[in-house]
Amino acid sequence: MEREPNLQKVATALVASGKGILAADESFGTITKRFQAIGIESTDTSRRDYRETLMSSPGLGQHISGVILFDETLRQKTADGTPIPELLKKQGIAPGIKVDKGAKPLAFFSDEKITEGLDGLRDRFAEYKALGATFAKWRAVIRIGPKIPTSFCMKANAHALARYAALAQEAGLVPIVEPEVLMDGDHTIERCEEVTERVIGQVFRELSKHRIQLEGMLLKPNMIVPGKDCPTQASVQQVAEATLRCLKRTVPPAVPGIVFLSGGQSDVLATQHLNALNRLGPLPWQLSFSYGRALQDAALKSWSGKKENVAAAQKALSHRAQANGLARSGKYEDAMK
Ligand code: 13P
Repeated sequence: MEREPNLQKVATALVASGKGILAADESFGTITKRFQAIGIESTDTSRRDYRETLMSSPGLGQHISGVILFDETLRQKTADGTPIPELLKKQGIAPGIKVDKGAKPLAFFSDEKITEGLDGLRDRFAEYKALGATFAKWRAVIRIGPKIPTSFCMKANAHALARYAALAQEAGLVPIVEPEVLMDGDHTIERCEEVTERVIGQVFRELSKHRIQLEGMLLKPNMIVPGKDCPTQASVQQVAEATLRCLKRTVPPAVPGIVFLSGGQSDVLATQHLNALNRLGPLPWQLSFSYGRALQDAALKSWSGKKENVAAAQKALSHRAQANGLARSGKYEDAMK
C-alpha cells in the first residue's frame, strides 16, 4: 500500500506540546440532551450558534490543535458566512470529522453494542476531505458487567475500528481510534484495567492485520477508573499509575499520541488525571486530551443560549483548554481550579 507521508505530520501536530483536541461532535441525539439540560431547543441554528461560540473563542488555537466536528457542523457557516472549517483554520486549528454512525445493539448479545458506519465510508471520506477535514474519529463502546464484555463483542468492535482506520489512511486522513470502556456500573478499578487491556490489545492486533501505519494515527482511550457506582473510588495517583501501566502493555511506541476521552469525569478531575499521568514520564508517546464534556460543560452552562453570554462561555472554554494545556506537561496546579 502506498504510504501517505502527510499522515504522520498531521498526527504529530494534533499532539503538539501544550495542545489537545476539543471533541464537539455530539450527534443530534446527544446535543439535544445537552441542550435540554439548560432549557434550549436544539435546532440547526442553535447548534450552529453554540458551536460557533466555542470555535471562535479568542486565542483558542493556543491550547487546541484540532476540533472534532459532527457532519452537520463541517457543512455549516458562521452567522457572517464563513465556512466552519475556514473559521478553524484561521485559528490555526485542524478540522476533524466523526464518521461513525453510532453504537447499535449487537444482535444476540444483550447489553453489548457494535458501532455502525462502514458502508459507503470510502465515498464519505472523499467528501470530508474535500470539505477540509484532515483527521477523523470512530468510537466503539464497551460496557462492563458481570458477564460482559464478551470476546466476540471486543473482536467485532476492534475489527470495525481497524476497517475504519484503514479507509481513513487510504483517503489521507489521520484516524483517531476510540475504543471506550464505559464508566457505567459498579466495577472496580482492577476490572476496568483488565478489560481495557484486553480491548486495546485486541484493537492493535486488528490494526496490524489491516496494515495501519501506526505513525499516522492516534489512540483515544478511556482512563483506568472504577465504575461510577463502585463503592471504592480511586485516588488521582492510582488512576494515573493504572492507566499508564495498561497503556505501556498495549500501545506500540510508534503511535505518536494518546488522546484521552473524559467519559463522564468532572472537568477538574479529567485535568488532574492528565496532569498526574504526564508527571509519570518519561513516556514513549505524547499523552494528551480529546475531551468533550470536560472541555464544554462549563462553557455550555455559561452560554445557556444567550448572545450576551458568548464572551463568558468563551472564557470558560479557554480556561479549561489552558488548564489541560498545562496538564500536558504536568504543570497544572490545583490553584487554577
Ligand atoms: P467525552 O470527553 O465527553 O467523553 O467525549 C469525548 C468523545 O469524543 C466521545 O466520543
